Parts: sequence; structure tokens; C-alpha cells
Amino acid sequence: MTYRLGVIGGGTLGSALVAGLLAKKIYAPAEIIVSHPRAERRQFWAETYGVGVTADNPTAAAAHEVVLVAVKPQQFGRVVPDLQAVQPAAVLVSVLAGTSLTSLETAVPGKAWVRAMPNTPVQVQAGVTALAWGRQVNETQQQRATQLFQAVGQVVTVPEAYLNGVTALAGSGPAYAALLIEALIDGGVLVGLPRALATQLTLQTLLGTVQLLQQQALDPAALKAQVMSPGGTTSAGLLCLEGQGARGMLMQAVQAAYQRAQALGQS
Ligand SMILES: NC(=O)c1ccc[n+]([C@@H]2O[C@H](COP(=O)([O-])OP(=O)(O)OC[C@H]3O[C@@H](n4cnc5c(N)ncnc54)[C@H](OP(=O)(O)O)[C@@H]3O)[C@@H](O)[C@H]2O)c1
Repeated sequence: MTYRLGVIGGGTLGSALVAGLLAKKIYAPAEIIVSHPRAERRQFWAETYGVGVTADNPTAAAAHEVVLVAVKPQQFGRVVPDLQAVQPAAVLVSVLAGTSLTSLETAVPGKAWVRAMPNTPVQVQAGVTALAWGRQVNETQQQRATQLFQAVGQVVTVPEAYLNGVTALAGSGPAYAALLIEALIDGGVLVGLPRALATQLTLQTLLGTVQLLQQQALDPAALKAQVMSPGGTTSAGLLCLEGQGARGMLMQAVQAAYQRAQALGQS
């Protein structure tokens, strides 16, 4: 059997990607092979997605178009020997946080590598993934790697030097947003709203704001000015946020995450 896509490390991310690819009919189940050391996980893959499964990583690594390496960074060393089976025309896509293209190209030389930084909303096909090209990747391989992540959201192509910044903003971003959402819900409860109502209002307000900004290509400052009427409620709320340094805090959060990504990349 010849497979087009091989997945090594069929965990949360691998599963999100395959779900998106199947939903968008970019690959058929029979064109995908997933290798996993645990039988129960292989059974999950076979039953949930109908894809091919194996306990043998080299079998998945021999898929002829794309090989997705989706193990945890600390598990990568163990799969390196298995990647010798990668075909000359196939592209190797790594989602390992903090593992540089130089490290990947040194560990498995002579192969076309792509480094990808997806974020958690890929699980609902609303992610954003940054891709950085290795030295040996050709145009067809770039297209295949791009297509893989377009199935689960937006794709941007960046120089590798940007990836720590991408990690700090888009990778960690869902956690910042979750904290903000939690706090707004608590604020709603504080002023007397039932929690379920406060949750619905918060989620839809943020979702609607993002859609407004995207669809009208609005500058956030312009949107803020639209909502802020003279002497009104919004200016009172914003004064509180600015007075407590909310803007600087969020900027520093991104900076701290960036510095942490840099430190982890060097360790
Ligand atoms: N989840 C995300 O949204 C996200 C976002 C950005 C980047 N990433 C990156 O994606 C990678 C995977 O993340 P994840 O959240 O999907 O982790 P995960 O759920 O732990 O998936 C990794 C999978 O690989 C399996 N595995 C371990 N050793 C293996 C081996 N030798 N051969 C084949 N498979 C093996 C693991 O099995 P066991 O369960 O038995 O250990 C696990 O099922 C990480 O490098 C992470 O940095 C993830």
C-alpha cells in the first residue's frame, strides 16, 4: 500500500490535523498512515478516522508526499533513526516546539524539512500556523506543507527567526485570551449577571469583535473610538484598564513568553 501522508506521533495535534484534512477531503483515509507505539491509540485512529495504522515508524515515514513528525520534543531522539525511511521527494514537517531547522537537518540530514508552529484552535479548524522552510524544500513540498495546515486554519510563512515571537503571541495566545475571558465573565457575575449569561455575553462579544475587525479591516484603535462615547460607560471602563496598566501587562506577557521560548531553544 502506498500512503501519501505519514503521521509519526498520533496525539492531540496529529489528530486535529488529520480530522481537518479528512473533513476538507485533501486526503482520503486510505492515503494516510499513522504510527503509534500503543495498541489502544492505534485502535482509536483506525476506528475514528479509518486511516491505516502501524506500530512501525519507518512504515509511516515511507509515505511518499508528507511525513508529519508530531511527537513531543523530548521524544524526538527516539524517532530519528526511523526517519531514514523518508523518501527523497517527501517533505518532513516538524511541529516540535523549540527545535530549530538546523537541529532537524543535522539529526536527519539530506531531507527536506519544514518547521511548523500551529496553535491550539487547530482543533476546531480555526488555528493559525507559521511555517519556516528548511534549506532543501522545493516549491511542491512547500505547497504540500501549506495545504496540510490550511485544513485547520490560516497559514503564514515566516523566516525561522520569527518563530519564537510567533510562539509567544499565537502559541501562548489562547491562554492569554482564556484568562481575559475568565476575568470578563467574573466581572459580569460581579455586577449581578448569572454566570451562564455572563459566559455567553463574553464569548459572543469577543467573537463578534474579532469578526468586525477582520471583515471591515478596522484598526483596533478605530473600533475602540466607535464604542467610546463622550462621558460614557466605555471610557470609565477603559480608564480603569489603562490605570491598572493592562496594556503594558499584555505586552510584557508576550515579551516574557518570547524570552522563555528563546531560553528553551538554547537548552
Ligand atoms: N497540541 C497543540 O495544539 C500543539 C500546538 C503547537 C505545537 N505542538 C507540538 O506538537 C507536538 C505534539 O503535541 P501533542 O499535543 O499532539 O502531544 P501528544 O498528544 O503527547 O502527542 C504525541 C504523541 O506521540 C506519541 N509517541 C511517543 N513516542 C513515540 C514514538 N517513539 N513513536 C511514535 N509516536 C510516539 C505519544 O504517545 P504517548 O501518549 O504514549 O506518549 C503521543 O500520542 C509537540 O512537539 C508540540 O510541541 C502541539
